[in-house]
Amino acid sequence: MAKEKIVVEGGTPLAGEVHISGAKNSALKLIAAALLGQGESAIHNVPLISDIVVMSKVIETLGGSVRRDGHTLHVDTAGVDTWETPYELVSKMRASISVLGPLVARFGKARVAMPGGCNLGARKIDMHMVGMEALGVHFHTDHGYIEASTPNGLHGAYVALDFPSVGATENAILAACGAEGVTVITNAAREPEIADLQDFLCACGAEVRGAGGSVITVEGRRPLHGCVHRVIPDRIVTATYLCAAAAAGGDITLRNTEHRQLAAVTTALRQAGCRVDCGADYIRLTRTEPLRAVPPVQTTPYPGFPTDCQAIFMAALLQSRGTTVFVENIFQSRYRHVPELIRMGADIRTEGRVAVVCGVERLHGAEVVATDLRGGAALVTAGLAAEGITTVQGVGHIHRGYEELPAHLRALGAHITEEN
Ligand code: UD1
Repeated sequence: MAKEKIVVEGGTPLAGEVHISGAKNSALKLIAAALLGQGESAIHNVPLISDIVVMSKVIETLGGSVRRDGHTLHVDTAGVDTWETPYELVSKMRASISVLGPLVARFGKARVAMPGGCNLGARKIDMHMVGMEALGVHFHTDHGYIEASTPNGLHGAYVALDFPSVGATENAILAACGAEGVTVITNAAREPEIADLQDFLCACGAEVRGAGGSVITVEGRRPLHGCVHRVIPDRIVTATYLCAAAAAGGDITLRNTEHRQLAAVTTALRQAGCRVDCGADYIRLTRTEPLRAVPPVQTTPYPGFPTDCQAIFMAALLQSRGTTVFVENIFQSRYRHVPELIRMGADIRTEGRVAVVCGVERLHGAEVVATDLRGGAALVTAGLAAEGITTVQGVGHIHRGYEELPAHLRALGAHITEEN
């Protein structure tokens, strides 16, 4: 049973190695994508986190089966016989919406609860719908559910996205796998998780090209089967440990990671005064001197600075020399960690999408509450650098996306425990 609080006593530099888990944001979509093929897929390097448990339940609710063997998930979708995903699951995890494309491709219809708002502000799904409408999907909303139908079948089309939304790009690719003919998606999101989805789909027999770039082409209606696939490393988890060591000081090496997917973050960490050395599958960060402020950090779609790293990098800079400006361009409301960091002695002012961080001499431990996944990781990061004890409540948010965060930090020498 997961504990309810994380308790950190700050002030100890980190030293040692961490093996990075597979990417949550990739694994979730691969599980959903398995709905397209009839048969079993073995997905390796799946992180042991609660969001994966929710997505597994979604597949089981639809009639499929999911069996875990360590970090391998065996997903069998041969028995899937319904196309409805209930609110109870979608409300737990917005990414459940990624079953919409595969269900429409497989059954020509779907009934999925509307995800509603979330802790990062109103997160609409209009672009998901526009993309699929181009392929011939009709949408109707009824009592909080989106009902999708395809009265004239699914056909390949030109899908021009207004913004490179990750989820809308993925749903368009997944639906297009079931469409007659060729689909071309422009202004597609270029995140590495989308390239991983393409690799998975191609291993299942699909014809998808161009992921990683802005134009993706899908040749639909190919017979899909199960496959064996290994999930890419989690770049946001990697960034979290880098920022933790930047905040606390020390010398850590992260294994099973891919530094090229983190260039925007490692550049910013170097600007702040960290030494970052990268090799084929590792990143080493050393921080011995106090950090300094960096040029404005603007979150943008990949390959820009990731919105998911904004809070954790902010936490690392709280005691830097000088002033750093953050501009959050992706989500409406992504500064909910700020009032909690201020309770620890941070000097941060926010106005709309902008946050201004003035480095302070010292941070002090406090009782704080995590309100979202990355904001929660930011509070732990700040706690590592603060004097005294920080107690983080609401750690269910952290378990959604981090496998054993306290245990890994403890192995690096941090004084951190979990309590009820
Ligand atoms: C995914 C990631 C999330 C990451 C985000 C941006 C998963 C499970 N989550 O979320 O961790 O922070 O990418 O890198 O992979 N939007 C609309 N209409 C739409 C779709 C999106 O207005 O139909 C808006 C969103 O509200 C948000 C922005 O576009 O403001 C970006 O969203 P998107 O790229 O779709 O993020 P997600 O796929 O939800």
